[in-house]
Amino acid sequence: MNLNKNYANVNDSYLFSTIAKKVAAYSADHPEKKVLRLGIGDVTLPLAPAVIEALHSAVDEMAKKETFRGYGPEQGYDFLRDSIAAYYKERGVELDGDEIFVSDGAKSDLGNIIDLFSQDNVVLVPDPVYPVYVDTNVMAGRKIIYSDATEANGFLPMPDYSVDADIIYICSPNNPTGAAYTKAQLKEWVDYANKKGAVILYDAAYECFIKDDELAKSIYQVEGAKTCAIEFCSFSKMAGFTGTRCGYTVVPKSITKGGLSANKMWLRRQTTKFNGVPYIVQRAAAAVFTPEGRKQIAENLAYYEENAKLIANTLKELGVWFTGGEHSPYIWLKCPGGMGSWEFFDYLLENAQVVGTPGAGFGVNGEGFFRLTAFGSKEVTKEAMERIKNLLSK
Ligand code: MLT
Repeated sequence: MNLNKNYANVNDSYLFSTIAKKVAAYSADHPEKKVLRLGIGDVTLPLAPAVIEALHSAVDEMAKKETFRGYGPEQGYDFLRDSIAAYYKERGVELDGDEIFVSDGAKSDLGNIIDLFSQDNVVLVPDPVYPVYVDTNVMAGRKIIYSDATEANGFLPMPDYSVDADIIYICSPNNPTGAAYTKAQLKEWVDYANKKGAVILYDAAYECFIKDDELAKSIYQVEGAKTCAIEFCSFSKMAGFTGTRCGYTVVPKSITKGGLSANKMWLRRQTTKFNGVPYIVQRAAAAVFTPEGRKQIAENLAYYEENAKLIANTLKELGVWFTGGEHSPYIWLKCPGGMGSWEFFDYLLENAQVVGTPGAGFGVNGEGFFRLTAFGSKEVTKEAMERIKNLLSK
């Protein structure tokens, strides 16, 4: 056999695994120090009561012969796909049930979707970017080109017609910068993709943080998107499912090329390589859309938004430049004193025992920047800000 040589071109370790290893090594050397984690965007609030209730009753169903479930429908149960379709309808987006595919999360789907596309497709990713888009395409041996997301363009690169791309990744609100496209800006990307015959892989995992109507919660709020965009969404950030695992992907039936349909291909791919999300988890996910679920989840999101405000106010007080945190759980700051991203990571860990994510881990343009997450607990966020204040005002 031969191993896939493309793996030689990816970093030895996934960004968040590298950070976890570094923090574990530090803790092993300094067991007396309490480390505060604002690195990976992992939620800290428990699942909402409506979700827990749905989980319990689904578990009870699994315990009885009459209500026990085995393999489920491959695209997800109708009760969940109907709730997702209704959620889209609220924003003026009509979807057919068979355009929605329930999965174990946006990360897996974002990584797996590239099975549908030809090897010689050119991939356009913004830099800095969620590392999954780059790593999965490097593993597949595809050519990757970058669009610069910088302070100058508000971390929102716009299409350049002199560049030819086939697969375009957009994440809005953006991980890691927190920048979010307006519907008008996204329309420019949709027009570009339709003109070039490209596909947009739109990561909407953070849409629940959008409060402004000008900003897009879904790319399908933009005219023309259904012929060029596949959208990925997740219950992880919206409803605290990072450990429960559930997401969904929308593959419109109007995305076709050379007589092939992306929707049919994704169904074929998923039915072959994936056996669906557990029934109990799908019941839990459906509870997110009930009136009680919606209310409870809004309270949880407001809690994280308070954390984001606290981080933002601390940085303002310290005179540290930052962006994000408004329509996003991420605050993207410039490392003080001209420090490099990893240098600042070590400095914070060693002197304040606070963990963040080095901007350089998201791409070349992330060098000199640093990401803090608002998904920590209120207590940890408060203490971390106190420590950062003490350290940086010295
Ligand atoms: C992050 O910290 O960027 C995210 O938690 C990663 C993810 O959602 O997979």
